[in-house]
Amino acid sequence: MFPLDRTRPLHGQLATALREAVGTGRLAAGTRLPASRDLARELGVSRGLVVGVYEQLRAEGRLVARQGAGTYVASAAAGPVAAPPLPVPVPVTPLRPGIPDLGRFPRRAWRRAYERALRTATDADLDYGDPSGAPRLRDELAGYLARVRAARVAPGNLVVTSGAAQAFALLARTAPGRLIGVEDPGSAPIREHLAAGGLRPVPVPVDADGIDVAALDGTGARAVLVTPAHQFPTGVVLSARRRTALLDWARRVGGLIIEDDYDAEFRYDREPVGCLQGRAPDLVALVGTVSKALAPGLRLGWLGAPPGRAADLHRAKSAADHGGPVLEQLAFAGLLSDGGYDHHLRTVRRLYRARRDAALVAIAEHLPGAAVTGVAAGMHLVVTLPSTVDDRRLADRATAAGLGALALSATRAGRPARAERAPTAGTPGLVLGYAACSIDRFRDAIQVLGGLIG
Ligand SMILES: Cc1ncc(COP(=O)(O)O)c(C=O)c1O
Repeated sequence: MFPLDRTRPLHGQLATALREAVGTGRLAAGTRLPASRDLARELGVSRGLVVGVYEQLRAEGRLVARQGAGTYVASAAAGPVAAPPLPVPVPVTPLRPGIPDLGRFPRRAWRRAYERALRTATDADLDYGDPSGAPRLRDELAGYLARVRAARVAPGNLVVTSGAAQAFALLARTAPGRLIGVEDPGSAPIREHLAAGGLRPVPVPVDADGIDVAALDGTGARAVLVTPAHQFPTGVVLSARRRTALLDWARRVGGLIIEDDYDAEFRYDREPVGCLQGRAPDLVALVGTVSKALAPGLRLGWLGAPPGRAADLHRAKSAADHGGPVLEQLAFAGLLSDGGYDHHLRTVRRLYRARRDAALVAIAEHLPGAAVTGVAAGMHLVVTLPSTVDDRRLADRATAAGLGALALSATRAGRPARAERAPTAGTPGLVLGYAACSIDRFRDAIQVLGGLIG
């Protein structure tokens, strides 16, 4: 029935042969398999081996055991095994926060950069390379971050990651202690990345000056994740005094500051404040991404490691995946070096600025009682709503209506400790993206939203 090669491990061979027979339908759904004792005798193997293989295929969903009646091919087993459902991708809806206008992805510039990368990559470039990223990209990025974000990071301390998400996961594995302070409100998915990396996120309130450093100090955490240029979601900028206090805290506790610089290229009313990392490269890990500037689907991000933590982070990246796709990295390096990235940023910055201005007008017109918080930056804003509004229900209804919006309360990690000082503490609200679609489409969406608030 299943020819076995006695010179190789038998368990794997029998499992593979059975999987194939089930997958191709040779053993049809509902077929009863021989009793383990009989199959063992027929194949000349131990009964325990057959029982183990049956168990494994049952765990995979290919076989089912019927009480007292034997083992059968599962009904959904022909073809790929039914896997647990994956999270459904969230569609790009007019108000979904954090998404750039994907129709503006610079396809032509990217194609040129990609073709150039393909043409000029040496055979050696196509080998397993440095897991922390193509040296050419790390050189370009170090220059770009110095020029645009006043960062001070040597190419050797940069790790090219699969989005900011992987940077958080790597940092979680190497952070000092198991506690990490997180801004509250803040990004729920990022809290999840940190928790998946083994850390326990501790909520720290955010007020009009950014994270409350005194409250952070009281948590006992020695690591913190902050969004100083444009706090997510409130949109406040970490004040000069708080920046100094945060660096003092990190120095005092031997701590690590993770600076999530996710949308700092988008400041509309002035030059963005330089990153915190540039003031203290030994204390701050700078995390960046192309998800806002180009497209999240590229899954390209980076982390500028404090020199004392760089070796651990290089090792963590290598252990995670041996490195990211090299041609994409070389294409991005080309886009940085030929000015294509700057050019694209200038174009979309103008566009998003106009969209933000129009968003303010639409909100004032159609959402009476709503107040907008945060500086003129990024690609989302927060509107706070009258206290009678249940923002989660409203966000659910907005999503059902195809608008997509995030409830402000869904970004809160805990009870606000200093409610009276925080810009949005306890207040219902929505986090609204305004960059992904045209002004008209946004205005229509806000009008529908206004109708849902009633
Ligand atoms: C606050 C914040 N940081 C970073 C990111 C970027 O994550 P990634 O680079 O993994 O797409 C996002 C994406 O939505 C975000 O909201």
